[in-house]
Amino acid sequence: MIVGAGYVGLVTGVGLARVREVRLVDRNPSLIEKLKVGHMPIFEPDLETQFKENLDKLAFFEELDDALADGRPELIFIAVDTPKSSSAASARNGADGNSADLAKVRAVIDQLLDRSGVAAVMKSTVPPGTGAAIVAEAKRRGSDLAYLSCPEFLQEGSALASCKEPDRIIVGRDEPSWASEALRELHADAYPALDESSVKPQYMEMALTNAEMVKHASNLQLASRISYANEIGNLCEELGADVTEVMAGVGADDRIGPSFLDAGIGFGGSCFDKDIRALKSVAKDRAQIDISLVDTVLAINEGQVDRVIGKLERRLGDLEGIRVAILGLAFKPDTSDLRGSRAFPLADGLRSRGATLRAWDPRADAREAAVRNPSSNGSPEWMAEEEVASTALGAIENADAVVVVTGWPEFTEIDWCEAATAMRGRLVIDGRNLLEPEAVREAGLEYEGTGRESRGLFRPLPQATPEG
Ligand code: UDX
Repeated sequence: MIVGAGYVGLVTGVGLARVREVRLVDRNPSLIEKLKVGHMPIFEPDLETQFKENLDKLAFFEELDDALADGRPELIFIAVDTPKSSSAASARNGADGNSADLAKVRAVIDQLLDRSGVAAVMKSTVPPGTGAAIVAEAKRRGSDLAYLSCPEFLQEGSALASCKEPDRIIVGRDEPSWASEALRELHADAYPALDESSVKPQYMEMALTNAEMVKHASNLQLASRISYANEIGNLCEELGADVTEVMAGVGADDRIGPSFLDAGIGFGGSCFDKDIRALKSVAKDRAQIDISLVDTVLAINEGQVDRVIGKLERRLGDLEGIRVAILGLAFKPDTSDLRGSRAFPLADGLRSRGATLRAWDPRADAREAAVRNPSSNGSPEWMAEEEVASTALGAIENADAVVVVTGWPEFTEIDWCEAATAMRGRLVIDGRNLLEPEAVREAGLEYEGTGRESRGLFRPLPQATPEG
């Protein structure tokens, strides 16, 4: 059973339906209704197809008690969200505003503590120490609730693939139990090569707090690598070097490896920022340790958006009245998820300087989601309706500059000659080093990548004839 039919719950549920009957529980009635009629509410490659194919193995419930009605011993995966605490909640708890809000986790655990023969398997990202505290509480209350940690490492845009072919499965447990045995059996069914040590995934059982630390430490490592690549890239820009070649050289060292070294406009998404802040918060509150690395990683990440704005100002001067086309609203390709998308701080920074915007994303649902919901009351995560175009060219038309924010392959298919004719200005800033610089320059446009010196390569637009 899985509690929480959000991103993690749905992908895990569809992944597990290959080998088990799965009950999905969510308190949101309209979501459950949609799922019951075979409607998949999120986009992820292959997810809808697999969901429909396995619909007969999936059952949907609004109430946990109804899903547990037959009393079978159960592994109950908890996949509810653990957002950053609201400022009010943080103030109440004396926290610093970076801690995770565990209210939904707490509500599920409270329901399970009074039941017999069930195990909570924590998929949600909870601060290190949470599992040990729940186990201690269960013992104190005489509850036989078994508790395991099984953090998710799903990458959006390839979530089902990360679920079907994970590098490792991390299982945190207090001591071996029927629950840890059942969880191993479940994974052995899902991944027949589990016991072959040379084949992925590695199955790693460890203490609860260690498993919780693996999740946070992994995200800090990945986020640090991106900020490291960005810091080196910023230096490359000044020294006339190219970060893509530098990182290819760096990553060719087996000790370092090539992934997560792509410089750009910074990391977005719902996890890195939130999880590394939560790690910093728990380190401060529980161990009086200041993980200053987190501040550095976040500051570099925020600075990448400012650098793009700085490039626009350097090229175009005062941005008042300047028209900017933003390509990409999703925080990464192959998803319609806008959470943490770099497009929004960029849009805010540009608007505050008097620039006007037109954005486009290849996914219609991302475009729709980006348009301001009038009831959302000024959240920065919105764009006015007129700021979102329905085609790439619609965004580019009359723009003084284009900024690529998301690494969508669709942007490489843009006809830059057509774009050059439609634009008012000539500047293309590639925040993902995605485009072929020559293709853009051959169209008479000025290309500026990230972490690449490009000023010396400037090629002026051919002079127009007097007749136009
Ligand atoms: C991340 C973790 O990878 C995953 O293990 C965890 O479970 C959830 O958080 P996700 O947020 O889906 O996954 O995406 P990821 O592929 O990690 O990318 C995050 C952001 O970093 C994106 O905005 C991406 O564009 C950016 N990124 C990634 C870079 O800027 N450079 C890189 O080299 C890699």
